[in-house]
Order: sequence, then structure tokens, then C-alpha cells
Amino acid sequence: MIRLKNEKQIDSIRQSCRMLSAMFRELMPLVAPGVATLDLDKWAQGWIKKAGARPAFLGYGPKSNPYPAALCVSINDEVIHGIPSKRKIAEGDLVSLDCGIDLGGFMSDQAVTVEAGAVEERLRALNTVTKECLYRGIAAAKAGDRLLQIARAVYGHAVSHGYGVVHQFCGHGVGFDLHEEPSVSNNPKGPNPRMLCGFVLAIEPMINLGTPEVDVLKDGWTVVTADRKASAHWEHTVALFNDRTEILTEPL
Ligand code: MF3
Ligand code: CO
Repeated sequence: MIRLKNEKQIDSIRQSCRMLSAMFRELMPLVAPGVATLDLDKWAQGWIKKAGARPAFLGYGPKSNPYPAALCVSINDEVIHGIPSKRKIAEGDLVSLDCGIDLGGFMSDQAVTVEAGAVEERLRALNTVTKECLYRGIAAAKAGDRLLQIARAVYGHAVSHGYGVVHQFCGHGVGFDLHEEPSVSNNPKGPNPRMLCGFVLAIEPMINLGTPEVDVLKDGWTVVTADRKASAHWEHTVALFNDRTEILTEPL
């Protein structure tokens, strides 16, 4: 069931999204060679608590293996869901940061990929095109149109650059829960419902330099590319109205 959101509910989700983007704006400059990813997570947990909210990812998932952090920090061949650890960021790393905030029961979700120091040109190009994929996907998210328009926009742009588009993981509805229906695929296949006024979606292309295939590591979370080549990830939370689509999280 797709849960539509009214104006008042969207305003509450908007507040959550703005808080999340404000957090990211302070977090991104902390990404630098020599910094342990666990330190970024500690900082984010502190920031979110101080702001009077809850990290939406912390404790999420199966009871047997709940997600242990506020942030996902996914470096190079890690696509998504990298668990913060003692690992230190190195010069030239492509570092994806993903976070969600629960503000009074209203959920936001956003991700960026940050370049640590001097990054190889082909990785910078991957990152640029992945961000372009996100904005093309958002431009295709319109009430009245079909959901797979988003995937067509993302997929077409990525493939035109020879990249692999991850299909085992998707964007999603968001707002009352972190993950709601519908699933927002980046591949133009599968169910294709009409998008409606009141949809709130997390649109999140995950684009690989090489193969689109991925593996999940033994920790049960970390998703890596099957060929261990680099990957990038950008995400916004957006709300669909009859006459416009609003990006609720802020540009980063
Ligand atoms: N942000 C991820 C997504 O975009 C969700 C992370 S799963 C968690 O769908 F367990 F880390 F929370
Ligand atoms: Co998401």
C-alpha cells in the first residue's frame, strides 16, 4: 500500500529533511584523509541528538542484525550500507555518506558522495554523472506520470557513459517509515504505477564504474560491487504535488 501524505504531513517531513541537510552541510567538510569513519558517525549521532531528533538508521533492520550506526559510509567499491569503523579515509577515496533523521516520527533520507583530497579523474566523472542521474530522475518524478519514468531517466544517462546501474537496491517511499512502498527502481523494469499528488519518494541512483552486479559482505550490510570497481550514490527526498515536485532535502 502506498501511503499518500497531505500538506501538513509533508510540512513535517520537510522539517526533518531540512534538519538532515543542515547536518550534512557541517558533516561534509569533515571528510578528509586520516579521519576514521566511526568518528564521522559519532559526530553525526551527537549532532542529531542535540537537534532533538533520532538517527533513523540506528537500530533499523532485522532484530538479529540491526544497523549499528547513524550513518552509512561507503568507500570506493562499497556501494551502500558501509558500516562506520576504525577505517581511515585515504587521499583519493570516493566517500558516500547516507543518513536519515526521525523528527517526531517523520523520516528524511539523503546521500552524497564526497571526494577525499585529490581524486582520479575517472572517479570524479563517475561522481558527477551519478549526481546528474539523481537530478534527471527527480525531473522525471511528476504526479500523473508513470513511476518507471524515473528509472528511464537515471538509467539512460548512466548507460550513455558506459556505467553499470545497480538494480538489486532501489529508492523507496519515505516519510512515515524509512522504507515504504513504492520501490523506486533505477532500472526501467517491473511494476509501473502512476505517481500521485502526495507521494514522498527517496530517489537514489547507485552507479558503478564497471558491472552493475553487487555482493553483500559477511557483516550482512555492506554492499560492494561484484568487480570491486568504484561506485557513487546520491539521494534526495522529494514530494509530488499536482503542479510541481519539491525537493525536500536541500542541495549539497
Ligand atoms: N539510506 C538507506 C536507503 O537509502 C537506508 C539505510 S538502511 C540502514 O534506503 F539500515 F542503514 F538504515
Ligand atoms: Co534511501
